[in-house]
Amino acid sequence: MTGQGTGGAAAGSVAALRITDAAAFGRVAVVMGGQSAEREVSLDSGRNVLAALRARGVDAHAVDGIPALLDALRAGHYARVFNILHGQRGGGEDGVLQGALESLRVPYTGSGVLGSALSMDKVRSKQVWLAQGLPTPRFVALRRQPGRSTAHAAAEVHAAARELGLPLIVKPACEGSSVGVSRVLREDDLDAAAALAARYGGDLLVEEMIVGDELTVAVLDRQALPSIRIVPKGEFYDYHAKYVAEDTQYLCPGLDGAAEGEIRALALAAFEAVGCSGWGRVDVMRDRDGRNFLLEVNTAPGMTSHSLVPKAARTMGIDFETLCWRVLETSFAREAELAAGGAP
Ligand SMILES: Nc1ncnc2c1ncn2[C@@H]1O[C@H](COP(=O)(O)OP(=O)(O)O)[C@@H](O)[C@H]1O
Ligand SMILES: [Mg+2]
Repeated sequence: MTGQGTGGAAAGSVAALRITDAAAFGRVAVVMGGQSAEREVSLDSGRNVLAALRARGVDAHAVDGIPALLDALRAGHYARVFNILHGQRGGGEDGVLQGALESLRVPYTGSGVLGSALSMDKVRSKQVWLAQGLPTPRFVALRRQPGRSTAHAAAEVHAAARELGLPLIVKPACEGSSVGVSRVLREDDLDAAAALAARYGGDLLVEEMIVGDELTVAVLDRQALPSIRIVPKGEFYDYHAKYVAEDTQYLCPGLDGAAEGEIRALALAAFEAVGCSGWGRVDVMRDRDGRNFLLEVNTAPGMTSHSLVPKAARTMGIDFETLCWRVLETSFAREAELAAGGAP
């Protein structure tokens, strides 16, 4: 049995149907793993999601990676997809999988082609936010140009540093999990930071470092959940703090009163500005004067025991199983859009 959706058919504007009977979901593929660098994290997330959906009576099954998923979908095995792949460049999070699912007319969780692809590129996300008057740290984007000499690339990084001033953050434009991200406090550290970020594909992003608090805001079905303030033991929220350390502190809600309302509204606006829908998580830095700056949107956030969206949901009284159910419900908004789109 299904409830009533509201709103029109534009991307992201359709509220999820509220489902009361697990059978309404049909057979669900929980796609996880894949070949990306984030395979292990995705498998961890995926197993948790699978167990939660099954505990609620959903006919859910694990599928490892995109090729296996597409084969199974073409064979008619599944009615919808819960996407918990983490990864860029065809890894499940960047619009490639979403395009394939659209062409097969199979509904799925999370953002569509545009939101997924745009969110994967931090530079282009920032350009969209700036065009809409949404705050993001000042930056210089260094386009990757094949054949450009190392000396030329280094000169560009130093010119960017002079323009922005220290301290800086240097990061690859299209990675995740803090890989390739460096803090640059002294000009002497610039070359090493640029060399590290350049090891990854795509453009380089040199960004003003915001000194203050790190927050993240989950979005679920057009609603921002309570913010989480991340207080790492070490210098910043690096890969170790994200996935290994047990001493990072998470405060939820991260802010009080009007400031909490402000950051939630900003996160939701940022999420919608880049065409995202369904669910996701927006990373924000807040400086010592209480000004917020958008860093990025994560369109397939982790669902591990360390993960942040489940923490925010719990603060609202949404337990993990209910969260997975609610995320799966958002696939009905995608289904309505697919139906409105006519024949491919
Ligand atoms: N402009 C910035 N100012 C301060 N800290 C930053 C800035 N950009 C990134 N960071 C730090 O680096 C981490 C990773 O950066 P982020 O842009 O969220 O990329 P990703 O999580 O995709 O690797 C953030 O969680 C934050 O701790
Ligand atoms: Mg991040």
